[in-house]
Amino acid sequence: MFLLKKELLGCTHVYSMVYLLVDILYEDTWRLWSFIVDRAFSIEFKRIDESEHRKLVREINEREIGLYIHFPFCRSFCRYCPYYRGLWNEKVFEKYSKALVEEIRLIGKLLSEHDPVVVDAHVGGGTPSLAPPSFWRSILEELKSVFNWKASLGIEANPDDLADESKAFALRDAGVSEVSIGVQSFHRSLLRELGRRHGPEESIVAIENARKAGYSLVNIDLMYMIPGQDLGMWEEDLRIAGELEPTQITVYPTLITRQAIIWNDAIRGKVKQPVKLFEKFASLPQEVLKDYGYHMIRIDSWSKLGDYSTVNLEMTGPLIALGAGAFGFTGTYEWINVHSINEYIRSLLNGKLPVVAGRNVTVSEKTARIVADQLFYRGVLDTKFLREKYGLSLENLPKPFKWALRIMKILGFIEGSGERLRLTQKGIMAAHKFVWTFVLKVPCKLAYKLMETPWPARITVP
Ligand SMILES: C[S@@+](CC[C@H](N)C(=O)[O-])C[C@H]1O[C@@H](n2cnc3c(N)ncnc32)[C@H](O)[C@@H]1O
Ligand code: SF4
Repeated sequence: MFLLKKELLGCTHVYSMVYLLVDILYEDTWRLWSFIVDRAFSIEFKRIDESEHRKLVREINEREIGLYIHFPFCRSFCRYCPYYRGLWNEKVFEKYSKALVEEIRLIGKLLSEHDPVVVDAHVGGGTPSLAPPSFWRSILEELKSVFNWKASLGIEANPDDLADESKAFALRDAGVSEVSIGVQSFHRSLLRELGRRHGPEESIVAIENARKAGYSLVNIDLMYMIPGQDLGMWEEDLRIAGELEPTQITVYPTLITRQAIIWNDAIRGKVKQPVKLFEKFASLPQEVLKDYGYHMIRIDSWSKLGDYSTVNLEMTGPLIALGAGAFGFTGTYEWINVHSINEYIRSLLNGKLPVVAGRNVTVSEKTARIVADQLFYRGVLDTKFLREKYGLSLENLPKPFKWALRIMKILGFIEGSGERLRLTQKGIMAAHKFVWTFVLKVPCKLAYKLMETPWPARITVP
């Protein structure tokens, strides 16, 4: 497939004559959605003075908040991974633990007058399950001593860690209640393509151990469109997952970003994904997982009970960011923690919050984020809910976003009128393309830029 690669030649609307002969899922794969995301989510973060940052975080105005902690260590690096992480090192980890406790205390002090209630808490990474259970016990104790705690703690886990039964039980005993296991595939060849350390056996044992240890929610992540994967293999992965009966199954298309080890090979055409079959891959979970009693809770997630998710609060706030590489959002102000383990530790040793950049979020952008979360992620938009919960109206949407909604309605992607809009089957496919283009162009690109240079003066995306 030919993709037109847009270059910024000093002018935003100039298209260079550079053609790439690639068949991969990257930020310009779906050009209509790329065009819309470029215009509707043009974002600039600026370096911010730490005292100004404290003032803006203190202005959080909702009582109930979520926490996201980034745990940026892995045993080795997977070839397609877009996340901020460093290699596991015991000594660095010890320093990181102290810095994280310091950050929790500083944020706790900052919000003490507001006295928020934590209703949601997730740890992502990196590989949080790598840390010893005693670490999570002490972090949880710290969090409970600082905040009104009404949340259960969920962590992302690698199958290698939970395949060790004693570790699965010890993490549960330490107070971790939910786990999201990075299974990716039950096919050895695909795990090898991704550069995973574990085989399918560890994943199966990890799911069984998580069930035995009594976690209240066990999500597993699967990936599709992995180079080398065909539709038959994808269906088999979904069926094996269904038979293992985790509480929830979340599926991701294999996205290719500049920060991934595979990037150079991918743009040289050495890696191929079945882009033309995207719709078939993306619609298969819906067809298969209903046979196993799962219902769709987002376009990428199927559950029997409950939801392990951080996406919603990232879009709507309020979400407090903790850890190197975390993003936070009060609802009106968004910020990013430094994407460098050493710089994170250094900031906190000096008693400073590790904020690298911040920005105010306009009412129109906030409306677009909430509509995207409700309609494109969950499939339903209730305008009464938008009005009553957030005091927002569709009138506030940025123009390109309004066009997108109008076009989607004309094309039959959205049905319903008045207070309740719903995605049709065709609309769910369009939503997949929109959501993944957004993820590639906004959070993934921000992470790439911040991994390149930890203290930029400003960062713009897409
Ligand atoms: C931070 S990782 C989960 C925890 C742990 N690090 C692991 O990989 O097992 C979050 C999830 O992102 C997904 N993921 C990884 N690389 C991806 C990529 N290139 N495109 C889309 N999703 C990806 C995987 O499904 C993974 O489980
Ligand atoms: S996919 Fe998970 S385990 Fe692999 S490098 Fe990324 S964060 Fe680490």
